[in-house]
Amino acid sequence: MTKILVTRRLPSSVIAKLKAAAEIDLYTGEAAIPPDELRARIADKDALVCLLTDTVDRSVIDAAPALKAIANVAVGYNNIDVAYAKSRGIVVTNTPDVLTESVADFTWALILAITRRLSEGERLVRRGEWKGWALDLLLGTELRGKQLGLVGVGRIGRAVAARAGAFGMRVAYTARSETALSGAEAMPLDRLLLTSDIVSLHVPLTPDTRSLIDKRALARMKRSAYLINTARGPVVDEEALAWALHHHLLAGAALDVYENEPAVHPDLLTLENVLLVPHLGSGTTETRTAMADLAVENVLAVLAGRPALTPV
Ligand code: DGY
Repeated sequence: MTKILVTRRLPSSVIAKLKAAAEIDLYTGEAAIPPDELRARIADKDALVCLLTDTVDRSVIDAAPALKAIANVAVGYNNIDVAYAKSRGIVVTNTPDVLTESVADFTWALILAITRRLSEGERLVRRGEWKGWALDLLLGTELRGKQLGLVGVGRIGRAVAARAGAFGMRVAYTARSETALSGAEAMPLDRLLLTSDIVSLHVPLTPDTRSLIDKRALARMKRSAYLINTARGPVVDEEALAWALHHHLLAGAALDVYENEPAVHPDLLTLENVLLVPHLGSGTTETRTAMADLAVENVLAVLAGRPALTPV
Protein backbone atom coordinates (compact mmCIF):
# COMPACT_ATOMS: atom_id res chain seq x y z
CA MET A 1 0.00 0.00 0.00
CA THR A 2 1.04 3.60 -0.66
CA LYS A 3 2.76 5.16 2.35
CA ILE A 4 2.71 8.83 3.30
CA LEU A 5 4.64 10.60 6.05
CA VAL A 6 2.85 13.59 7.61
CA THR A 7 5.15 15.62 9.84
CA ARG A 8 2.53 17.35 12.01
CA ARG A 9 -1.08 16.92 13.08
CA LEU A 10 -3.50 18.17 10.41
CA PRO A 11 -7.25 18.80 10.68
CA SER A 12 -9.06 15.46 11.11
CA SER A 13 -11.12 15.90 7.93
CA VAL A 14 -7.90 16.22 5.96
CA ILE A 15 -6.24 13.23 7.63
CA ALA A 16 -9.38 11.18 6.92
CA LYS A 17 -8.98 11.93 3.21
CA LEU A 18 -5.39 10.71 3.30
CA LYS A 19 -6.28 7.61 5.29
CA ALA A 20 -8.85 6.61 2.69
CA ALA A 21 -6.09 6.46 0.09
CA ALA A 22 -2.90 5.45 1.84
CA GLU A 23 -1.16 4.21 4.97
CA ILE A 24 -0.33 7.27 7.07
CA ASP A 25 2.65 7.70 9.36
CA LEU A 26 1.76 10.77 11.43
CA TYR A 27 4.40 12.50 13.57
CA THR A 28 2.53 13.74 16.62
CA GLY A 29 5.22 15.77 18.41
CA GLU A 30 4.44 19.37 19.35
CA ALA A 31 7.55 20.78 17.66
CA ALA A 32 9.14 20.00 14.30
CA ILE A 33 10.16 16.39 13.71
CA PRO A 34 13.90 16.03 14.50
CA PRO A 35 15.99 15.70 11.29
CA ASP A 36 17.25 12.18 12.16
CA GLU A 37 13.72 10.98 12.77
CA LEU A 38 12.55 12.57 9.53
CA ARG A 39 15.28 10.72 7.61
CA ALA A 40 14.43 7.43 9.34
CA ARG A 41 10.66 7.65 8.92
CA ILE A 42 10.70 8.81 5.30
CA ALA A 43 12.80 5.84 4.14
CA ASP A 44 9.86 3.69 2.95
CA LYS A 45 7.46 6.49 1.98
CA ASP A 46 5.93 7.45 -1.36
CA ALA A 47 5.03 10.98 -0.33
CA LEU A 48 5.73 13.58 2.32
CA VAL A 49 3.35 16.21 3.70
CA CYS A 50 5.53 18.69 5.55
CA LEU A 51 5.56 22.14 7.10
CA LEU A 52 7.82 25.14 6.64
CA THR A 53 9.55 24.14 9.89
CA ASP A 54 10.86 20.91 8.29
CA THR A 55 14.12 21.17 6.39
CA VAL A 56 13.81 18.88 3.41
CA ASP A 57 17.35 18.89 2.07
CA ARG A 58 19.38 16.42 0.00
CA SER A 59 19.96 14.16 2.99
CA VAL A 60 16.21 13.78 3.55
CA ILE A 61 15.47 13.31 -0.15
CA ASP A 62 18.29 10.77 -0.50
CA ALA A 63 16.89 8.83 2.44
CA ALA A 64 13.65 8.19 0.51
CA PRO A 65 14.29 6.22 -2.68
CA ALA A 66 10.57 5.76 -3.48
CA LEU A 67 9.51 9.38 -2.83
CA LYS A 68 7.27 10.85 -5.55
CA ALA A 69 5.80 13.96 -3.93
CA ILE A 70 6.70 16.56 -1.32
CA ALA A 71 3.71 18.72 -0.36
CA ASN A 72 4.55 21.76 1.75
CA VAL A 73 1.69 23.12 3.83
CA ALA A 74 2.83 26.68 3.10
CA VAL A 75 3.11 29.01 0.15
CA GLY A 76 6.83 29.58 0.86
CA TYR A 77 9.09 26.63 0.10
CA ASN A 78 12.57 27.83 1.05
CA ASN A 79 12.71 24.86 3.47
CA ILE A 80 12.88 22.42 0.53
CA ASP A 81 15.73 21.77 -1.89
CA VAL A 82 13.37 22.05 -4.85
CA ALA A 83 16.06 21.81 -7.53
CA TYR A 84 17.41 18.57 -6.08
CA ALA A 85 13.93 17.09 -5.62
CA LYS A 86 13.09 17.92 -9.24
CA SER A 87 16.36 16.34 -10.41
CA ARG A 88 15.18 13.17 -8.68
CA GLY A 89 11.80 13.33 -10.46
CA ILE A 90 9.96 14.27 -7.25
CA VAL A 91 7.06 16.74 -7.56
CA VAL A 92 7.16 19.58 -5.01
CA THR A 93 3.96 21.47 -4.25
CA ASN A 94 2.99 24.48 -2.11
CA THR A 95 -0.29 26.15 -1.08
CA PRO A 96 -0.70 29.45 -2.95
CA ASP A 97 -3.99 31.39 -3.22
CA VAL A 98 -5.80 29.81 -0.27
CA LEU A 99 -3.88 31.99 2.22
CA THR A 100 -3.66 35.23 0.24
CA GLU A 101 -6.58 37.05 1.84
CA SER A 102 -5.84 36.00 5.42
CA VAL A 103 -2.19 37.08 5.15
CA ALA A 104 -3.25 40.39 3.56
CA ASP A 105 -5.74 41.01 6.39
CA PHE A 106 -3.05 40.15 8.90
CA THR A 107 -0.58 42.54 7.28
CA TRP A 108 -3.08 45.34 7.82
CA ALA A 109 -3.61 44.18 11.39
CA LEU A 110 0.14 44.66 11.93
CA ILE A 111 0.19 48.03 10.15
CA LEU A 112 -2.65 49.32 12.33
CA ALA A 113 -1.27 47.77 15.50
CA ILE A 114 2.21 49.26 15.17
CA THR A 115 1.10 52.70 13.98
CA ARG A 116 -1.52 52.94 16.77
CA ARG A 117 0.82 51.43 19.39
CA LEU A 118 -1.54 48.63 20.45
CA SER A 119 1.04 46.33 21.99
CA GLU A 120 2.66 49.18 23.94
CA GLY A 121 -0.77 50.14 25.25
CA GLU A 122 -1.62 46.57 26.15
CA ARG A 123 1.64 46.14 28.04
CA LEU A 124 0.99 49.38 29.92
CA VAL A 125 -2.46 48.20 31.01
CA ARG A 126 -1.22 44.72 32.03
CA ARG A 127 1.61 46.25 34.07
CA GLY A 128 -1.01 48.24 35.98
CA GLU A 129 0.71 51.48 34.97
CA TRP A 130 -2.18 53.16 33.16
CA LYS A 131 -3.05 56.33 35.05
CA GLY A 132 -6.19 57.13 33.01
CA TRP A 133 -7.05 58.96 29.79
CA ALA A 134 -4.58 61.62 28.76
CA LEU A 135 -4.46 63.86 25.72
CA ASP A 136 -0.95 62.81 24.84
CA LEU A 137 -0.96 59.16 25.88
CA LEU A 138 0.81 56.83 23.41
CA LEU A 139 0.03 58.93 20.36
CA GLY A 140 0.15 57.05 17.10
CA THR A 141 0.38 57.98 13.46
CA GLU A 142 -2.43 58.21 10.91
CA LEU A 143 -2.33 56.38 7.59
CA ARG A 144 -4.51 58.66 5.46
CA GLY A 145 -2.53 60.45 2.75
CA LYS A 146 0.61 58.43 3.41
CA GLN A 147 2.54 56.05 1.15
CA LEU A 148 2.47 52.29 1.51
CA GLY A 149 5.63 50.82 -0.06
CA LEU A 150 5.29 47.18 -1.06
CA VAL A 151 8.48 45.23 -1.62
CA GLY A 152 7.18 42.51 -3.92
CA VAL A 153 3.74 42.37 -5.49
CA GLY A 154 2.91 38.72 -5.92
CA ARG A 155 -0.50 37.47 -4.82
CA ILE A 156 -0.18 38.66 -1.23
CA GLY A 157 1.41 42.02 -2.04
CA ARG A 158 -1.45 42.72 -4.45
CA ALA A 159 -4.07 41.76 -1.90
CA VAL A 160 -2.42 44.12 0.60
CA ALA A 161 -2.44 46.88 -2.04
CA ALA A 162 -6.14 46.26 -2.74
CA ARG A 163 -6.98 47.22 0.86
CA ALA A 164 -4.90 50.43 0.86
CA GLY A 165 -7.64 52.63 -0.61
CA ALA A 166 -9.85 51.95 2.41
CA PHE A 167 -7.19 53.61 4.57
CA GLY A 168 -6.62 56.50 2.15
CA MET A 169 -3.06 55.40 1.34
CA ARG A 170 -1.32 55.63 -2.01
CA VAL A 171 0.72 52.60 -3.03
CA ALA A 172 4.27 52.33 -4.34
CA TYR A 173 5.93 49.04 -5.15
CA THR A 174 9.06 47.30 -6.34
CA ALA A 175 8.82 44.23 -8.50
CA ARG A 176 11.41 41.96 -10.06
CA SER A 177 9.59 41.63 -13.36
CA GLU A 178 7.48 43.99 -15.43
CA THR A 179 4.53 43.40 -13.11
CA ALA A 180 2.12 46.31 -13.32
CA LEU A 181 -0.11 47.23 -10.43
CA SER A 182 -2.80 49.63 -11.52
CA GLY A 183 -3.23 52.78 -9.45
CA ALA A 184 0.19 52.28 -7.87
CA GLU A 185 3.64 53.61 -8.69
CA ALA A 186 6.53 51.26 -9.50
CA MET A 187 9.90 52.46 -8.23
CA PRO A 188 13.36 51.10 -7.40
CA LEU A 189 13.85 49.82 -3.85
CA ASP A 190 16.05 52.73 -2.80
CA ARG A 191 13.41 55.28 -3.74
CA LEU A 192 10.66 53.22 -2.15
CA LEU A 193 12.61 53.13 1.11
CA LEU A 194 13.29 56.86 0.99
CA THR A 195 9.69 57.87 0.30
CA SER A 196 7.39 55.34 2.01
CA ASP A 197 5.69 55.75 5.37
CA ILE A 198 5.00 52.03 5.68
CA VAL A 199 7.34 49.50 4.05
CA SER A 200 5.79 46.04 3.85
CA LEU A 201 7.74 43.00 2.65
CA HIS A 202 6.13 40.44 0.34
CA VAL A 203 9.04 38.70 -1.37
CA PRO A 204 9.96 35.02 -1.13
CA LEU A 205 13.23 34.09 0.57
CA THR A 206 15.85 33.52 -2.14
CA PRO A 207 19.60 34.19 -2.30
CA ASP A 208 18.69 37.62 -3.76
CA THR A 209 16.30 38.62 -0.98
CA ARG A 210 18.29 37.30 2.02
CA SER A 211 19.19 40.37 4.15
CA LEU A 212 17.60 42.64 1.54
CA ILE A 213 16.68 44.93 4.42
CA ASP A 214 20.10 45.47 5.96
CA LYS A 215 21.71 48.40 7.78
CA ARG A 216 22.07 50.37 4.57
CA ALA A 217 18.44 49.85 3.57
CA LEU A 218 17.18 50.71 7.06
CA ALA A 219 19.25 53.89 7.09
CA ARG A 220 17.42 54.98 3.94
CA MET A 221 13.98 54.78 5.56
CA LYS A 222 12.25 57.88 6.91
CA ARG A 223 12.64 58.32 10.66
CA SER A 224 8.84 58.38 10.83
CA ALA A 225 8.41 55.15 8.82
CA TYR A 226 7.43 51.63 9.88
CA LEU A 227 8.67 48.27 8.59
CA ILE A 228 6.30 45.30 8.36
CA ASN A 229 7.52 41.75 7.71
CA THR A 230 5.06 38.93 7.07
CA ALA A 231 7.28 37.33 4.39
CA ARG A 232 10.33 35.45 5.69
CA GLY A 233 12.56 36.41 8.60
CA PRO A 234 15.93 36.28 6.84
CA VAL A 235 14.79 38.97 4.38
CA VAL A 236 15.57 41.36 7.26
CA ASP A 237 18.91 41.52 9.07
CA GLU A 238 17.49 41.35 12.62
CA GLU A 239 20.60 42.69 14.30
CA ALA A 240 20.63 45.69 11.97
CA LEU A 241 16.92 46.24 12.58
CA ALA A 242 17.40 46.20 16.37
CA TRP A 243 20.23 48.73 15.94
CA ALA A 244 18.11 50.98 13.71
CA LEU A 245 15.11 50.83 16.05
CA HIS A 246 17.30 51.51 19.07
CA HIS A 247 18.68 54.62 17.36
CA HIS A 248 15.19 55.65 16.13
CA LEU A 249 16.26 55.58 12.49
CA LEU A 250 12.71 54.42 11.86
CA ALA A 251 9.61 54.77 14.00
CA GLY A 252 8.84 51.11 14.48
CA ALA A 253 8.57 47.62 13.06
CA ALA A 254 6.03 44.82 13.20
CA LEU A 255 7.40 41.32 12.66
CA ASP A 256 5.58 38.04 12.12
CA VAL A 257 8.66 36.13 10.94
CA TYR A 258 12.24 35.83 12.21
CA GLU A 259 15.69 34.85 11.03
CA ASN A 260 15.94 31.79 13.30
CA GLU A 261 12.40 30.90 14.33
CA PRO A 262 11.35 30.42 17.05
CA ALA A 263 14.32 32.41 18.37
CA VAL A 264 14.04 36.20 18.26
CA HIS A 265 17.09 38.44 18.36
CA PRO A 266 17.45 39.34 22.07
CA ASP A 267 17.91 43.05 21.31
CA LEU A 268 14.46 43.18 19.68
CA LEU A 269 12.86 41.76 22.81
CA THR A 270 13.92 44.78 24.86
CA LEU A 271 12.55 47.43 22.47
CA GLU A 272 9.15 49.10 22.83
CA ASN A 273 8.89 50.23 19.20
CA VAL A 274 8.69 46.73 17.73
CA LEU A 275 5.65 44.46 17.64
CA LEU A 276 6.56 40.77 17.73
CA VAL A 277 4.10 38.00 16.88
CA PRO A 278 4.76 34.29 16.31
CA HIS A 279 4.36 33.63 12.54
CA LEU A 280 0.57 33.90 12.53
CA GLY A 281 0.03 35.44 9.07
CA SER A 282 -2.14 32.69 7.63
CA GLY A 283 -3.42 31.60 11.03
CA THR A 284 -7.17 31.34 10.71
CA THR A 285 -9.03 28.06 11.07
CA GLU A 286 -10.45 28.45 7.57
CA THR A 287 -7.11 29.16 5.90
CA ARG A 288 -5.01 26.59 7.75
CA THR A 289 -7.63 23.93 6.93
CA ALA A 290 -7.60 24.99 3.28
CA MET A 291 -3.79 24.86 3.22
CA ALA A 292 -3.69 21.34 4.67
CA ASP A 293 -6.43 20.24 2.31
CA LEU A 294 -4.62 21.62 -0.75
CA ALA A 295 -1.37 19.88 0.29
CA VAL A 296 -3.21 16.59 0.63
CA GLU A 297 -5.01 17.02 -2.70
CA ASN A 298 -1.61 17.64 -4.30
CA VAL A 299 -0.20 14.42 -2.87
CA LEU A 300 -3.24 12.39 -3.85
CA ALA A 301 -3.10 13.77 -7.41
CA VAL A 302 0.58 12.93 -7.87
CA LEU A 303 0.19 9.44 -6.39
CA ALA A 304 -2.76 8.81 -8.71
CA GLY A 305 -0.63 9.81 -11.72
CA ARG A 306 -2.44 13.12 -12.24
CA PRO A 307 -0.74 16.54 -12.44
CA ALA A 308 -0.31 18.32 -9.11
CA LEU A 309 -2.77 21.17 -8.51
CA THR A 310 -0.13 23.66 -7.37
CA PRO A 311 3.40 22.50 -8.24
CA VAL A 312 6.21 24.93 -7.47
C1 DGY B 1 3.60 30.35 4.28
O1 DGY B 1 2.62 29.71 3.88
O2 DGY B 1 4.65 30.37 3.65
C2 DGY B 1 3.45 31.13 5.53
O3 DGY B 1 4.62 31.66 5.99
C3 DGY B 1 2.76 30.32 6.59
O4 DGY B 1 1.45 30.44 6.34
